Amino acid sequence: MVPPESPNLKKIVAEAAVNHYVKDGMAVGLGTGSTAEYAVRRVGELVASGYELTCVATSLRTEKLAVEAGVKVSDLSDVDHLDVTIDGADEVDPDLQLIKGLGGALLREKIVAAATVREIIIVDESKLVQKLGTKSPLPVEVIRFGHARTKYAVERQGCKATIRATDGKPFVTDGGNYVYDCAFESIENPFFLESRLDVIPGVVENGLFLNTAYAVLSADREGIVTRIERGGVREILKP
Ligand code: A5P
Repeated sequence: MVPPESPNLKKIVAEAAVNHYVKDGMAVGLGTGSTAEYAVRRVGELVASGYELTCVATSLRTEKLAVEAGVKVSDLSDVDHLDVTIDGADEVDPDLQLIKGLGGALLREKIVAAATVREIIIVDESKLVQKLGTKSPLPVEVIRFGHARTKYAVERQGCKATIRATDGKPFVTDGGNYVYDCAFESIENPFFLESRLDVIPGVVENGLFLNTAYAVLSADREGIVTRIERGGVREILKP
């Protein structure tokens, strides 16, 4: 007997988010990563169906994908604000605090999130954790100059930092920087950690996205999507 195909949770949750939150005429932030890609494609379908959207991308990779999907991409500087941004995450805690950046786009993602009224996070349930830092390392983007020294200052915050590399060479972000993936046992106080990281010379940005998510949409293994809003609203979204 052929086993039943498991649902594509990333596609399901991404499309649910676009269908629920994106309305004609909006300014929309396009996230980065394997889940957000499905949202970008769905936005492309809406544009093809006649929606007029102003879209801003959180990475060069997303910009390319958006253009391929028929979506015109604007510069964030030309936009007053974004009504909604739909983006993925690496961890989500019960207070909707996040770790992002395993896709390497944390700097632009944070700038775009700061310009956004409703930041919508799309994940499958494997990303839900009780405490940040327990499953995913925390990405920290650093200036290349003196990066090994910056690493020591980062490690003094209680982690083991490993430079991100592809094919034996350091990964370079869209901003031309390096990323250290910082393994913590767990992050007990994300707000305190963020304040410590922010003052280290050489650190450009970190992957803690605190009080950023307006809502998280999470797909369970059956493909049922639950929407959790910061204000406490919790509902199952109809497919
Ligand atoms: C990109 O820099 C990240 O913040 C992604 O949003 C995050 O890593 C989730 O990516 P996936 O959807 O590929 O798991």
